[in-house]
Amino acid sequence: MIFRQFLHFEPVAASYLFGCAGHATCAVVDPLGDVEPYVRAAEETGMKIRYVIDTHVHADHLSAGRALAERAGAEYVLHRSVAPNGVADGQQLGLGNVIVDVLHTPGHTPEHISLLVTDRTRGAAPWLVFTGHTLMVGDMGRTELAGEPEEGARMLYESARRLRALPDEVEVWPGAFSGSACGKALSGKPSSTIGFERRFNRTFRIDDAEEFIDAALRDLPAPPSNAAEIRAINLGARPDPITHRMKVWSILTKWPATYDVFRRHGCPDMRRGFFSISARIMPLTWAARFHRVPLEHLLRELNACANGEQKRLAS
Ligand SMILES: [Fe+2]
Repeated sequence: MIFRQFLHFEPVAASYLFGCAGHATCAVVDPLGDVEPYVRAAEETGMKIRYVIDTHVHADHLSAGRALAERAGAEYVLHRSVAPNGVADGQQLGLGNVIVDVLHTPGHTPEHISLLVTDRTRGAAPWLVFTGHTLMVGDMGRTELAGEPEEGARMLYESARRLRALPDEVEVWPGAFSGSACGKALSGKPSSTIGFERRFNRTFRIDDAEEFIDAALRDLPAPPSNAAEIRAINLGARPDPITHRMKVWSILTKWPATYDVFRRHGCPDMRRGFFSISARIMPLTWAARFHRVPLEHLLRELNACANGEQKRLAS
């Protein structure tokens, strides 16, 4: 099995690429930021990205899941409660000799899934589990970002019971570590095992339901700002700026002459610039329509470039 962990620090998060080298197929879990490092990692290991999976609809950062799926020609996967063709508990995703069992583990958010991974070349027992923000090292995920906190904590208790039933040696690869807004007493160490967390995790180790819920709801830090808006974008209910940005740049690179006019002249007032060089910008408006990108996005991007270029020349 090929396995790569990607650690992110602003915002704090962990994402993964894993798969079967023998069958040249892999999946990416919880990607964020630039999609190219995932594409490069797949290419360098001779694999094609088949699935891009978000363990849940993130509330603390913009997912790059849809953008990466589009870039790689992969299937984008979420739990079926938030995606018409999403996966369900008990479903298996095949990656050659690597098998992914989907576990619905709600609590942090209602649609959260964990991914139990088995490498059949090593044995029939599961090797590792991607736990997203359900189980992290040292603590579990907060439960009020997408619903009522106590109801979330009760669901999280049931999810914890289910994960605690896994063998001690199963490796835990979480979606975040210390500094993430999605948990409170998280360790800076971004991996663990079920056995270690069963003994030392402040919430996961608690058997009693009421005690567990009390611990889960105690000392919650401030929620991330714009959590609802970020979830709406990640759900696809609002335009995804990462996908739009990729489309915008693909258009700009096709029209370098137009881009160069903006870059050299600078256009703090983009509307004025638009009209003054309408002959040069006209192809851009056609391209925007063709690619279904709002012209505003193109103008904003060009404006940022122009301002950046002016600052560079002035310095
Ligand atoms: Fe989260």
